[in-house]
Amino acid sequence: MNLENICEAVARLAKETGKEIKRYKKENGLKVEVKGRHDFVTQVDKYSEKLLVEGLSQILPEAGYIAEEGTRTDRGEHFNWVIDPIDGTTNFIHDVPPHAISIALMQDGKVVIGVIYEICGDELFYAYKDGGAYLNDEHIHVSPVADISQSLISTGFPYSNFDRLDDYMKLFNHFTKNSSGLRRHGSAATDLAYVAAGRFDAFFEYDLKPYDVAAGAIIVQEAGGRIADFKGKDDYIFGKEIIATNGLIYEDFLEATKKAFGNK
Ligand code: IPD
Ligand code: CA
Ligand code: CA
Repeated sequence: MNLENICEAVARLAKETGKEIKRYKKENGLKVEVKGRHDFVTQVDKYSEKLLVEGLSQILPEAGYIAEEGTRTDRGEHFNWVIDPIDGTTNFIHDVPPHAISIALMQDGKVVIGVIYEICGDELFYAYKDGGAYLNDEHIHVSPVADISQSLISTGFPYSNFDRLDDYMKLFNHFTKNSSGLRRHGSAATDLAYVAAGRFDAFFEYDLKPYDVAAGAIIVQEAGGRIADFKGKDDYIFGKEIIATNGLIYEDFLEATKKAFGNK
């Protein structure tokens, strides 16, 4: 298994699909369906996922799928593709950047490839296990900022699950007072890619799904960053909570997170 070659093929597919859905949206417009509370899907999300599943099934036929829109649901014995056909659908509907295609490959439960194509900026982020992280073929690295007071922090506001809103607001409050600023860009995959590229120093959000974070997680790690769940453990792909940092501010960031979320 040559991860580098597979990653290259996935990156090409993500970029082609990004260009194709831009064209498709222009020609066909959007048909928006409501999936859940404040949770939308368009026919373009479904079209994107169909193209991705077709392409990925040729790259690695034995792999199974965890795909947001459920185009395929069969699981592989060792390999699974984790696909978000458009991350940032609300932005996409409103013609607001960023929005991205996010694809990860998991091998025996561990992410080994991550590809994020941010469509508006034509930026292709990718990484494979032990191969480093890249943006449009240039190596990327997390930021050198060592102090939260000088950090730019990205987050996703709770929008449908408000169970932990009070704890979330405690952390929001803390970073509002103790960092250089907070941003809400509306695409968790892009948030993670930006941490990897050193644009944001850290990111946090709860209630994210595997397809929101799997690709971004390996890109951040291969760029030298450090990721965890809110307890400082490794359950950030399926555990619905993630902090991603440049590594240098990890301990302080985790301490603030634990304090706000009461280690629940
Ligand atoms: C959403 C985006 C958003 C995050 C949400 C996700 P979607 O993904 O990543 O930034 O805050 O939690 O669900 O629905 O646009 O694929
Ligand atoms: Ca998503
Ligand atoms: Ca999506």
